Amino acid sequence: MNPRTTLVGAVVLTTGLTLAGCSSSDSGPVLKVTGAFMPQPVSDMAAGFLVVRNSGSASDRLTSVTSPLSDDVTVHETKNGTMRRVTSFEVPAGGELDLERGGNHIMFAKLKQQPKQGEKVSVELHFEKADPIRIDLPVKETTHNPKKQ
Ligand code: CU
Repeated sequence: MNPRTTLVGAVVLTTGLTLAGCSSSDSGPVLKVTGAFMPQPVSDMAAGFLVVRNSGSASDRLTSVTSPLSDDVTVHETKNGTMRRVTSFEVPAGGELDLERGGNHIMFAKLKQQPKQGEKVSVELHFEKADPIRIDLPVKETTHNPKKQ
């Protein structure tokens, strides 16, 4: 154990991190998606719900969603019972973005087919800073609401 060697090693490591992190990675958002589902659609429109957790030290924004199920996927907020398209949703640092029934959601229009309960719908979430996240939304019964169980 030579203290001098240890010190030199630490300095080199720190310098390396600074160089590698200068574009985005040192204190950026760290995102994880949980609780995703799609209620079985009853028309040619469908909604998607999920939670994006951000354990990083920088906020991010969900800017768009793509899916093979539809070429018309948008993000909506619900205010006073009326839904409205928004351009993006914040995913706060150390917090989460909740897309839940009666509130914010992903909207799929002009479905190419109607997925049934038990199937899965692939989606890709695109963010302002973080890399895209691809997930499968399990299709649940039309009235499914995890908050009411
Ligand atoms: Cu909507």
